Amino acid sequence: MTIRKLGDEVLHKKCEKITVFDDELKNLEEEMYKAMRKAEGIGLAGPQVGVTKRIFVIEISEEGIKQTFVNPEIIETSVETGMYNEGCLSLPGLEHEVERPLKVSICAQDIEGKPFTVNAEGLFARAIQHENDHLNGILYIDHLDQEEKTRMEQLFVKKQEALKKAKRRH
Ligand code: NI
Repeated sequence: MTIRKLGDEVLHKKCEKITVFDDELKNLEEEMYKAMRKAEGIGLAGPQVGVTKRIFVIEISEEGIKQTFVNPEIIETSVETGMYNEGCLSLPGLEHEVERPLKVSICAQDIEGKPFTVNAEGLFARAIQHENDHLNGILYIDHLDQEEKTRMEQLFVKKQEALKKAKRRH
């Protein structure tokens, strides 16, 4: 599974609800965890692997968190917000401060289709909101003002070009 990067149309699509909870879905979940670990990320959403379905996975090993969210709905966010330096596997090597609510309540289904609710704060709450955005075709740079967003897009292109050159050399 390859992780889709900025510029890929699939990252801007609104994802569809999942209605079938079968082995194919479990396989997708497993592949997503594998791709996320390989890229050393803490979260990965369907469209990032080219699947426009409402699923994301989060794994924050230091906090013992590993959770799959299918058809998630954010039901409440705290009024209190905070800034945090966010990165995204679809924009490798870049990060930028993003303001978001500090706490979030979210309901979702697990990989078997069983509903659950999570009240999250800290990095977990941050990751949930970031990944949930992906299901609606929203990237973290979409939260920045236009000037900063453009600057980040240009930085991304520069980084990708540098990577290509480095690959050609070796
Ligand atoms: Ni992301």
